[in-house]
Parts: sequence; C-alpha cells; structure tokens
Amino acid sequence: LASGPAATSELFEVSSPNVVYTDNEIKSKYTYRTTSVTKGNDGKFVAVPKETVYDFKVDRKIPKTGVMLVGWGGNNGTTVTAGILANRRGLTWETKTGEQAANYYGSVLMSSTTKLGTDANTGEDVNIPFHQMLPMLHPNDLAIGGWDISGMNLAEAMDRAQVLEPTLKQMVRKELAAMKPLPSIYYPDFIAANQEDRADNLLPGSKACWEHVEEIRKNIRDFKAANNLEKVIVQWTANTERFADLIEGVNDTAENLIEAIKSGHEEVSPSTVFAVACILDKVPFINGSPQNTFVPGAVALAEKHDAFIGGDDFKSGQTKMKSALVDFLINAGIKLTSIASYNHLGNNDGKNLSSQKQFRSKEISKSNVVDDMVAANNVLYKEGEHPDHCVVIKYMPAVGDDKRALDEYYAEIFMGGHQTISLFNVCEDSLLASPLIIDLVLVTEMMTRIQWKNTSDSKDYSGFHSVLSVLSYMLKAPLTPPGTPVVNALAKQRAALTNIFRACVGLEPESDMTLEHKLF
Ligand code: NAI
Repeated sequence: LASGPAATSELFEVSSPNVVYTDNEIKSKYTYRTTSVTKGNDGKFVAVPKETVYDFKVDRKIPKTGVMLVGWGGNNGTTVTAGILANRRGLTWETKTGEQAANYYGSVLMSSTTKLGTDANTGEDVNIPFHQMLPMLHPNDLAIGGWDISGMNLAEAMDRAQVLEPTLKQMVRKELAAMKPLPSIYYPDFIAANQEDRADNLLPGSKACWEHVEEIRKNIRDFKAANNLEKVIVQWTANTERFADLIEGVNDTAENLIEAIKSGHEEVSPSTVFAVACILDKVPFINGSPQNTFVPGAVALAEKHDAFIGGDDFKSGQTKMKSALVDFLINAGIKLTSIASYNHLGNNDGKNLSSQKQFRSKEISKSNVVDDMVAANNVLYKEGEHPDHCVVIKYMPAVGDDKRALDEYYAEIFMGGHQTISLFNVCEDSLLASPLIIDLVLVTEMMTRIQWKNTSDSKDYSGFHSVLSVLSYMLKAPLTPPGTPVVNALAKQRAALTNIFRACVGLEPESDMTLEHKLF
C-alpha cells in the first residue's frame, strides 16, 4: 500500500508566552506540579508542593509511516487492514439493518474527544477530537504490511477470520488479494501444537538464529523503501506464545540475549527475535499478546539503542471493563472481595489458548490488572490483602470471533452487606482489538516526535524512556520502565495520555474543578 500525503491540519494554536510555533516545531515550557510527601518520626505525613520545569519540543511534520504486523493473516491483522482500506476509500455497504459506513469507533484517538478548555464567552466546555491535540498521523495514510506463518493472501485470510460482512469483504477483496504476508519464523514449541497445520510460510530454521534477525531487518528496510516511508512501526498480533524461561546468562542482559540468539538457544521466542531485530534499527516494536517477549535482556537492549518498545497484550474487552469497573468500585469505597472471569471464544486465538502453556500467559496477563487499585486503598485492604481473582478461558468453536466474557464481581458494602455485579459481555474480539492496533501506532509514532528536557539540567533534549508506558490505556499488562510503578486504572491511563499531550503544547491538565462556575 502506498500512503498518501499527511491529512491532518492543526485545529488550534496556544497563545502563551511559554509556547512558540516555528515552521517545523512547537516549543513549550511546562511547569509540572506534583506533591512530594515524607513521613516524620511522629508518623505524620508532610506534603510539599513541588515544581519542575520542562522544555518540550514537538516535530510538526507528520512522516510517511507504515505498520508491519506480525500475524498479519490472523483475525486482527485482516480486520484492521480491511478496516483501514474501507475508511481510506470512504466505503459504505449494505447490512441486514441498513447501510453501514466505515468508521474508527473504538479508537480513543480517532473517535473520542478531549476538553481543550472553556469557551471565553459562554463558559461551556470546548471539546476537540483527541486526534487533534497534537499534529498526529491519520490511520488512512498508513502503509500496511507484515508477516505470517500462514501464507494465505489477506482476502482468503479475511474469509477464514469470519469477522466482516460479506458485502464489505466484496468491496475490499481485490486489494486484499494482492497482499501476501512475508514468510515468518516458527519455533513450534512456543505456540500451541494445534497451529501447526497453518504453518506453511516459513523461513528455514526452527529455533532462534542470527539469520532470522537479519532477515526481519531486511524485510523492514525493503518495506520502507518500497513504500517510500520515513518510519515503520512493528506490532506483534500473532499467536500468544508460552512464557520463555528467564535464565541467567541467556536472556538476562542485552549481550547475553544477542549471544543466545547467535548460538540458537531454545528459550528465545520468535517474538523476542522480532523485538531484537526492530530494536537494533530503532524501529518501535509493540507486543499485543501476553507472553514475556520483553525479557530483561530485550528491555536492556532497547535502552541501549534508544529504541521504543511497548506492551503487553491488547486491552480490548473483558479486561478493559475490569480496569474501569474495579477502579470505580474501590474508589467508591466498596470492598471488592472476588472477581470470577470466564471466557469462551471460538476463533483461532481461542484454539491456541486451549493449550495449557499459552493459556498460562493469558492468565498471568489478565490476573494482575487490579493490583495497583487494591494496593492504593489501605482503608479497605490490609497490607498484602487482595480480592480472590480467577480467570477461565474455554475454546468454543461455534461462537467464532464473538467472544463471550462472563464476570462476577462480588463486593462487601456497608455493615456487612454484599453487592454482586454480573456482566455478560459479547466482545466481537477483532473489532475491538483493531482500533487499539491503530491507537498504538498513532501514539507510538507521535512519541517519536516529542523531545524534552528538564530546564535546570545542562543536558540536551532527549526522547521518552524506551519503554513507552504511555501506551498503557491500550494494554492489559502495561510494560513500564524497570523499577517504575504500573498503573492499570483505565481513567488514570487516559488522563496520563491526555495530559502528556497537553504538556507538549504548554497546557495545564484539565482538573475538572470548574471553579469558574462555583463562586457564589
Ligand atoms: P489469530 O490466531 O487469528 O492470528 C494470529 C496470527 O498469527 C495467525 O494468522 C498465525 O498464523 C500467525 N502467527 C503465529 N505465529 C507467528 C509467527 N511466529 N510469525 C508470524 N505469524 C505468526 O489471533 P487474533 O485473534 O488475531 O489475535 C492475535 C493476538 O492478539 C493473540 O495472541 C491474542 O491473544 C492477542 N489479543 C487479541 C485480542 C482481541 O482480539 N481482542 C485482545 C488481546 C490480545
């Protein structure tokens, strides 16, 4: 796919002595206000307001960008590709309930708004599309490519996925039929044995080797050149792998990991090989599945090369609800005592997850999502206390991609009473995941154009830390820079994204105090 010219034009300008616009950049000075807390010997906290001044610099020129998906021929890969084509061409199609037009529903960037400020005359909120907070890439302009161990062209793979309406499929069929995934690497032990029959598009070799790294790097360079791109972002939306064992001397440091690949160590997964290939060329790599692709050696390598990585596991249906609902319950002072989560699904992801080791990766990723919210409330929970939480996933071919997620939240309320909330969520999995794939690309690309520095440092501008924790909103088990806290609460994740983007143009966070309306 060749991409067209950048489509976005900036919707607003900030008028402030702290913000300067040049042809190529937006430069701002931003005061970050936090509260520093210490505990005295008497047990009393002392809270001190703290200010740090940062200089931000945003590159206004939107580069021609491509995304390469590992697992391109899967349900997510085909759905996101057809969806972008349909949007680019402004397609409408007949369904049993009437005409449907292409849209980007479910993309926080493309289909949600954020408050810019308050109307100077009416006092009303002024909301703008999230996508227009900064000069951002438009998904219609993305070139798309990728790899799959299954050699089906994307039109056939779209049929196999059974996600989209036949009328829509007909309209994008010709373009998709011309797209064929690149051969990929397949180390059978990492995904379920039941995937073997689709593995017909492979690079030679069944364990990690340096040739695989080099071939992937070459694939990315070729894709970039063929589509005349300035940037490429790679995302893993291939099968969930089993966890790799963490072994001293193998995947603990950047050097050991490189050596382990060169010597063909059996504990290096395909996703880690993809990550390493991308990191070496500073191509951002995002992991949309739950496995531990980013072993310590991979994170260290990314830090060494100043390359962006993000993960893990798209947060689309059940867990997205969980990270909103649990945040609400615990912050409402309600003591959640158990969460029972059942899923059944009938797509190829479900088939792969019916194997114990791959299920285990998903179980881990789904299980830790309430930890920060529980730990933050020491009124309801004693140190170490935690709600019971169990996750069950079953493969049920008949329901296809329409995953069923059944959740029971059981909580203790006032005076020993109980509240039970039962949720039945039909997720249409790939239609929820595809917009996340788009958001991850858009935010990641944006982050490559932001530079900042502490004004009081003599150091020059630098980029964000290699581990892009700002992507957390879209991910179930957010990867954060080593030693830094993980935030799972959905509202906090969205606020972080919004407010970092605001800071880049020198705007304060919107506090929702609306004091201007409250003085009598
Ligand atoms: P899928 O099974 O339809 O697609 C995965 C594709 O990856 C398949 O076409 C397979 O042939 C390919 N593949 C496997 N190993 C590969 C390798 N080494 N290199 C290249 N291709 C390879 O699965 P789906 O539904 O598209 O999901 C993809 C991943 O995203 C899964 O791991 C799933 O757990 C994860 N995910 C999906 C969510 C959703 O759909 N809502 C939510 C959260 C995570």
